[in-house]
Amino acid sequence: MTCTSIELLKVKAERIIYWVWKFFRTLFPVIDTDILEQVRKKYPESWLIHFDKMLPPDKAHVLRLFKAISEDRNLTAEIREKLIMLALAHDIGKSIVRQNIFTRVIKVVIPIPNRSHPILGARLLKKLNAPSDIVRRVARHHIPAEKDKFLKLFQYYDDNV
Ligand SMILES: [Fe+2]
Repeated sequence: MTCTSIELLKVKAERIIYWVWKFFRTLFPVIDTDILEQVRKKYPESWLIHFDKMLPPDKAHVLRLFKAISEDRNLTAEIREKLIMLALAHDIGKSIVRQNIFTRVIKVVIPIPNRSHPILGARLLKKLNAPSDIVRRVARHHIPAEKDKFLKLFQYYDDNV
């Protein structure tokens, strides 16, 4: 076996482990009450009601993002704060599009495009007078970022936690 095929196997094995982990965290979301409290304090008041309507797996994802970004010592305070605000905002459209458990589990295995919640979330945030850069990035958060390096950085966290 060549070095390249071993590397390829390693990448595939890591992907499978990630899918299994994603599958379980979709079925059994963990909500850390301390982090939940910190996250709720961070939300602008007008956004909070929508966060509260999100389903537990979606809330758990926001909490994991908040924790990962907060603990990343490679970020400047300014970038960290901006990433956290985008993390709080990015899936808020899921308070409107509430997927059932079957769809969620299927989406772990089959990459069905996420079209509706970014658009609905961006519309909702615009109505709530959110900053225009957040509205724009929420609308595009599932589209590979080419020129927007900040969105690309955010997508790294979004895809890995
Ligand atoms: Fe999303």
